[in-house]
Amino acid sequence: MRKYVLNSIPVNILVLVSGNGTNLQALIDAEKAGRLNPGKIAAVISDHAGVYALERARLAGIPAITEVTDKTLPKPERRQELSDRILRICRERNMGLIIYAGFLSILTGELIEAYAGRMINIHPSLLPKFGGRGMYGERVHQAALAAGEKESGCTVHIVDAGTDTGPILIQRKVPVLAADTPDTLAERIHREEHIAIVDAAMMMIKKGTP
Ligand code: GRF
Repeated sequence: MRKYVLNSIPVNILVLVSGNGTNLQALIDAEKAGRLNPGKIAAVISDHAGVYALERARLAGIPAITEVTDKTLPKPERRQELSDRILRICRERNMGLIIYAGFLSILTGELIEAYAGRMINIHPSLLPKFGGRGMYGERVHQAALAAGEKESGCTVHIVDAGTDTGPILIQRKVPVLAADTPDTLAERIHREEHIAIVDAAMMMIKKGTP
C-alpha cells in the first residue's frame, strides 16, 4: 500500500456528518481528552441542514458548516459540485485528514485524488459484507439479520473512488443475538463505532500512515 504522511502540525481534521453525530461526539471527546494530539477538529461539514451533529460542533466551539447538494443539478454533477465545494474548504483551511462520520453523500473527482489515503469512513458492518451504494442506516442491519449472520460489527476504512471499498484500518465485532431487531443490532454496533472511529483517527494522526 502507498504510504501517506500527515505532516502538518497540527493535523487539521475535517469531520463530515449527516445526522445525529454520535461518532463526531466521540471524536470531540477524544480530542478534549488529548487523545487526538496533534490532531485538531478544525471544521464539521453537514450535507443536511439543521442536524444535531452541527449543534454538537457549535457546542464544542468548532466551525459548523452546512453544504447541501444543489438539487437543480443532475445526480453526477450534483456529487461533483458538492465535492468541489468541500475540496475548496479543505484547501482554504489546510485540512490534513477527512473523516466521514455518518456522512451520506458520495464524494468524487479531484477531492478523492487530492486526499487519497487521508480520508477515512466508518460503516456499520464487517465490510466487505453489507456495503456499497444504498447500504446505509437500517438497511445494513436488516441485511445482516436476513443473511442469518452470527456476528456483525463496524469497519473503518480508507476512502477510495468506490463506495465502502477502500483498505480496512479497523474492524470491531459484536454478536448477533437471536432476538435482535435492526434497532438493537444497530445500537450494539454504534457503541463499537465510537471506539473504532477514535482508534482509527489516532492511527492516522500518530503514525501518519494507514
Ligand atoms: C453510523 O452508524 C455510521 O456507521 C453510519 O451512520 C451512522 C451515523 O451515526 N455511516 P452518528 O450520526 O455518528 O450517530
